[in-house]
Amino acid sequence: FVHQLADPQVNLDTLLRSPLQPVATMKLALPARLYGSERPNSRGVDLNVAAERLPLVEALKVAPAAPVPDASVAEARAAMEALHAAQPAWNDVPLAERCAVLQRTADAMEAQLPRLVALLAHEGGKTLGDGVAEVREAVDFCRYYAAQAGQRLAPQALPGPTGERNELRLHGRGVFVCISPWNFPLAIFAGQVVAALVTGNTVAAKPAEQTPASARAFVELLHDSGLPRDALRLLAGPGETVGAALVGHPRCAGVCFTGSTAVARLIARTLAAGDGPIVPLIAETGGLNAMIVDSSALPEQVIDAVVTSAFRSAGQRCSALRLLCVHEGIADGLCEMLAGALQELQPGRPADAAQSWAVDVGPVIDAEAHAHLGRHVARLEREARLIGRTPLPEALRDTHIAPAAFELAQVGDLREELFGPILHVVRWSGDVDTLVDRINALGYGLTLGVHTRIDERALRVAERARVGNVYVNRNMIGAVVGVQPFGGEGLSGTGPKAGGPHYLYRFCGEQTLTINT
Ligand code: NAD
Ligand code: ALA
Repeated sequence: FVHQLADPQVNLDTLLRSPLQPVATMKLALPARLYGSERPNSRGVDLNVAAERLPLVEALKVAPAAPVPDASVAEARAAMEALHAAQPAWNDVPLAERCAVLQRTADAMEAQLPRLVALLAHEGGKTLGDGVAEVREAVDFCRYYAAQAGQRLAPQALPGPTGERNELRLHGRGVFVCISPWNFPLAIFAGQVVAALVTGNTVAAKPAEQTPASARAFVELLHDSGLPRDALRLLAGPGETVGAALVGHPRCAGVCFTGSTAVARLIARTLAAGDGPIVPLIAETGGLNAMIVDSSALPEQVIDAVVTSAFRSAGQRCSALRLLCVHEGIADGLCEMLAGALQELQPGRPADAAQSWAVDVGPVIDAEAHAHLGRHVARLEREARLIGRTPLPEALRDTHIAPAAFELAQVGDLREELFGPILHVVRWSGDVDTLVDRINALGYGLTLGVHTRIDERALRVAERARVGNVYVNRNMIGAVVGVQPFGGEGLSGTGPKAGGPHYLYRFCGEQTLTINT
């Protein structure tokens, strides 16, 4: 308890009243275990079993997918007209059949797991663990939205006066434009598309420029599973041209966007500028995510959570930890442990079958991201204290960013979402409410981690924080569909939460039918 005495808000009484974390939940920062997949709610391989990962490694040896041609602006516009014409027929397909298409697609993804994981490694630089988790997430989206649609979209009888029948009915809005990022080229693409389809919309799907082949693989599985060809069109190409043409088209009845806050603003402006129908926007955007560690936290558990949250997926998750706020009473010890953990991470090329299983940290997505992150690291090297860094072999210098942690003076020193394996650490002391207010003042509101053994403190922080997902005494990434509905507020998006029970309603039009009987 020596640490806790350095923090005036922690006293022995509160500590002794708080249940201690059971030892079983303490995990050590051992990379081989960290990067195994722990998703509980769908079937999959256990990556710790050699025989189960063999098919994945073998699949990596097959040549990467053929390039996906870009659509032209004219093709994008023509597709919007065709999708508009096809929407009433798709909306009329019985709900049970629309749901069955999603279930068959999920079955097909499970059957083709090695091929899809290999595609994600080749195209998106994903490690095997991340690839398996992503395919499972895409499977979960299909199964969850099928189940939700079955429960929630049926007409609902409402009470009314005698002699009158009232009913609330949901229907597709028209053509939904779904625009997705490169960092979950299968799962986010799939989640958007199937939510829009199962609710009776036809869909124009615009994948990120960097990852169209993963999107094409999913579209093919949907069609092979019985989705009519004219209900969904894949329109690859630059956001500034193809994406803008789709969003600005008069047939666009709704936009589901996941990506940067800046592009969400552009889309919102385009939609506001049109003089046709008012078009809803679902925007899930960036995060500047913090983790608060008080002096009662378990150091080993914190380090495990930090390594997973900040460096897994090379930090290329919207949910990733960017700003670690450690109570000054334990900061020196924790930084020393963090520096040690950084030495253990193994960077490498996940798509290389000879080394894929051993890789903890893959490349960043492209040369532009590499240059941007490189400039940020150079600035930190001048202005901040280096806590620790993973050694990076010379051969990886052009494609990878070495996972690293730097100490900043205060929370407000970080203003921009840095989408890579760079962790910023600040020390805090005094009142935790003030710290939460400073984090809120950054304006983002996606994820927040809290490490404390004082239950009241964890709940108080969660209540005060203006974020969509709060994780206590664990890592803060990898929200599970249907278990941790995911999405933020403020600069992080409009809500609603993907993988949550309210999501599908946002893709629907609603009609109240009143019949005088
Ligand atoms: P991005 O905003 O650069 O691109 C996202 C998509 O928008 C791409 O398909 C792109 O082509 C398209 N686009 C670009 N300009 C456009 C325009 N003018 N009109 C229409 N479409 C346009 O984002 P990114 O670099 O692909 O992805 C990383 C970002 O995504 C990060 O900010 C990350 O935090 C965010 N993200 C958020 C979530 C979430 O659920 N909140 C999940 C994953 C990623
Ligand atoms: N849903 C993804 C996560 O939680 C972005 O990491």
